[in-house]
Amino acid sequence: MTTKKTLLSAVKPTGEAHIGNYFGAMRQFVDRQDDYRQYIFIANYHALTSVSDKLLLQKLTLELAMDYLAIGVDPKKTTLFLQSDVPEVTELAWIFNTLTTVPYLSRAHAFKDAEAKNHEVNVGLFDYPILMAADILMYGADVVPVGLDQKQHIEIARDTAQKFNRIFGETFKVPEPMILEEVKTVPGTDGRKMSKSYGNVIGLFASDEEIKKAVMSIPTDSKGVEEPKDPSECKVFAIHELFPGTELEALRARYKDGGIGYKESKDLLVEKIIAFIAPMRTRRDEIARDPEAVLKILKEGGEVARAVAQEKMQDVREKVGLKLTLK
Ligand code: ADP
Ligand code: TRP
Repeated sequence: MTTKKTLLSAVKPTGEAHIGNYFGAMRQFVDRQDDYRQYIFIANYHALTSVSDKLLLQKLTLELAMDYLAIGVDPKKTTLFLQSDVPEVTELAWIFNTLTTVPYLSRAHAFKDAEAKNHEVNVGLFDYPILMAADILMYGADVVPVGLDQKQHIEIARDTAQKFNRIFGETFKVPEPMILEEVKTVPGTDGRKMSKSYGNVIGLFASDEEIKKAVMSIPTDSKGVEEPKDPSECKVFAIHELFPGTELEALRARYKDGGIGYKESKDLLVEKIIAFIAPMRTRRDEIARDPEAVLKILKEGGEVARAVAQEKMQDVREKVGLKLTLK
């Protein structure tokens, strides 16, 4: 019998899930669950770096759990849990903090971006990559599926594992990022990276009306219907590319040859997005009718994850000298 490799990932409950999250990361949580031993969680400790409203955090957390289930994460195959049900990760993050230098963390993109915008950066945000390293290393993840923007964080987790292993002896597996080459960064309705923080998203469970509104708002140039168009320059086409296949290639040809206007391209895109979202939205509505069942799934997942973490921490505590033994 071959033992399955471990896959781990998470999303922060900081806003409505969008199709960028899905195509960049979440889809893989469903596609891979038969092949890997899988841990998927809701990064609510991480969310605290930007959400300080109890009711809002609770709402976003429960909604994200429902989103995972609606896209097809199966709790029988995947350990689905809340990050905060395993408080051991904060202990591990603390131990990693003592091995990490301030200049090293100061080079992280998220921190540099926040500083560049003159945001008052909280210590939690500065330390965000180290908590994420603890998340990843705690469960012995082999692979971490994420969008391209998280690549640096996986590198920090790798460096942290290697540093710890060098100082205290072989303890942590060095994880690999799993980034979908063909997707990398899903563009938003303004052509920038689709992101909750830019307000350019198409919600993963959006209504038909919301989808239409978002797609119609995509800016285009003033080329007429018959004029040839460069598909790589078109923000509408960039989103069409999420749905590869013969239809996409036919559309690409029509762009190049001329004969398709932006209105028609947008109408086609609306159709494609609705066809993809509608079944998940129905499932999401069913799941939302029984929130108790969702809490139960999270609780059970948390117990499984915590048992793994507690065992790992015994080894870590022993290795670093926190555990007293008389010899
Ligand atoms: P946001 O930028 O909207 O706040 P998150 O930081 O919560 O999104 O990201 C959750 C997951 O979705 C991460 O793995 C991230 O890399 C991925 N992701 C987010 N936006 C995109 C995008 N536009 N394209 C591809 N992947 C994305
Ligand atoms: N930082 C990730 C994001 O913004 C969320 C996250 C937290 C995560 N811990 C993780 C992702 C561990 C993968 C593995 O999307």
